[in-house]
Amino acid sequence: MNNIINGTEIAKIIKDEIKKNIEDLQGKKPCLAVVIVGDDYASHVYVKNKNKACEYVGIKSDTYFLDTNITEQDLLTLIEKLNNDDNVNGILVQLPLPNHINEKNILLKINPLKDVDGFHPYNIGMLSTNNSMLKSCTPAGCIELLKRYNVDIKGKNALVIGRSNIVGKPLSMMLLNEDATVTTAHTKTKNLEYLTKQADIIIVAIGVANFLKPHMIKEGAILIDVGMNRDNDKLCGDIDFSCSQKASLITPVPGGVGPMTITMLMKNCLIAYKIQNNMNV
Ligand code: GUN
Repeated sequence: MNNIINGTEIAKIIKDEIKKNIEDLQGKKPCLAVVIVGDDYASHVYVKNKNKACEYVGIKSDTYFLDTNITEQDLLTLIEKLNNDDNVNGILVQLPLPNHINEKNILLKINPLKDVDGFHPYNIGMLSTNNSMLKSCTPAGCIELLKRYNVDIKGKNALVIGRSNIVGKPLSMMLLNEDATVTTAHTKTKNLEYLTKQADIIIVAIGVANFLKPHMIKEGAILIDVGMNRDNDKLCGDIDFSCSQKASLITPVPGGVGPMTITMLMKNCLIAYKIQNNMNV
């Protein structure tokens, strides 16, 4: 049995669904504004890939390349301008930002209805009350993969390893909204192996190469790997891929969760467009 989740294939299917949905807008196109500060190499790669995905599905993308020395005030002023521009439906400020800029102030400034990253406290609050429309992209991509592989999340013991604001915390909330019994583990967790052995679903998002080993999991566990690490120059995740011998489903790295993040961003741009145009989402 093939137990490897094909994230690239699922991402393509969803992007084609979004593309079709945008074609149905009869010539109108959602617009995403991407703001990138400085010359962080990885950020520029992400932004290039975002623009490519926008082009594929039919979203207009405007990218603002800003000097690394821009002041926080000037960045806030740009966001204010984008908030007030009716032609802009989504705003994404690429992270990380330079140290002299307070990330929290920037994320708070973005109009929550244009917050296609789902990072604004308003959208986090909506997620925690199970009312959210704009959900953060990587965790939403993990849930979507489980659903597209017909995993019945309800009542499952789900273990999230990692508690970042971007992945671990929102993911735990999303799994809870899907009626899983959720445990969130982190660096201070005691006896992690006891927890991993109980878990039906394990999602690892800690950035430690090959952290989860076969002896830590139970037979038939479902494994989702959010990690993206380099081990002796080879790309690898947070899950040792030899776990595939025991798992009933597992995401590879690359080609698992990775392609889903930008796809969910495209979905959020369409949702934001619909919200702003009083359409059913
Ligand atoms: N930097 C790395 N990943 C992301 C992301 O998903 N959104 C933003 N805004 N910045 C990032």
